Amino acid sequence: MKPGTLYGVGVGPGDPELITIKAVKVLNQVEVIFAASSSKNEYSLALENAKSHMLNGAEVVRLSFPMTREQEMLEKAWEENARRILAFIQQGKDVAFITIGDPLTYSTFGYVMETIQEMAPEVPVSVIPGVTSYQAATAAAREIMAAQEQTFCVISGSEGGEQLKEVINKVDCVIMLKVYKHLDKILDTLEELGIKGGATLVSRCGMEDQIVCKNPEKLRGKKVPYLSLMIVKKEKGK
Ligand SMILES: C[S@@+](CC[C@H](N)C(=O)[O-])C[C@H]1O[C@@H](n2cnc3c(N)ncnc32)[C@H](O)[C@@H]1O
Repeated sequence: MKPGTLYGVGVGPGDPELITIKAVKVLNQVEVIFAASSSKNEYSLALENAKSHMLNGAEVVRLSFPMTREQEMLEKAWEENARRILAFIQQGKDVAFITIGDPLTYSTFGYVMETIQEMAPEVPVSVIPGVTSYQAATAAAREIMAAQEQTFCVISGSEGGEQLKEVINKVDCVIMLKVYKHLDKILDTLEELGIKGGATLVSRCGMEDQIVCKNPEKLRGKKVPYLSLMIVKKEKGK
């Protein structure tokens, strides 16, 4: 039997209106929609974002992924979930894997896609890009990422401020995702680099409880939501 197509669909970062027409079209065309959630709970933000657009009664299958950095556990979960998805595709069904923001930007979809391509290279894959969290956040904060010959880069803050130190001399603007765990360490680094005045923290962008904080120092010692990122404009901070 001819296999179905695997679609990776970005559903935007939090505001359900920041989804593309193409994404909505695919969500209403496929037979099955896969939504990733942490193995601790069933909640899927991507599904929350997408559900008002899913009008064709596609079957929704939740896939659980552990929130761990342990490579072996992660690979096991990618493989198991890839097999589950593949079982539907091999019945000839078109399926969509939805992700918040963009599917190929810090997303589980990337690993699942590569695992499926390795297991079954004949399966057609199509990726529908999404509005990323940092595009929505810079818009909400009205901060320019780059103009003229400037450069910007996107890094992970999950280890603290080390990556920021490595890149800050080469670019004008740094976007740090995953800042929620080590916010204080990141604030220390901004202070050390003398650029803390150029930082903006955006949490739960596009949601009812969105926060845009132009002085993240005042959040020191506080817990910020998982959906938080930092925009650092070097020149503004000096
Ligand atoms: C696993 S990454 C997902 C990135 C996503 N695929 C994208 O294109 O932006 C999760 C991180 O994205 C950022 N993020 C995602 N949605 C966000 C939102 N609505 N507001 C603020 N940050 C968000 C946070 O830094 C969070 O820790």
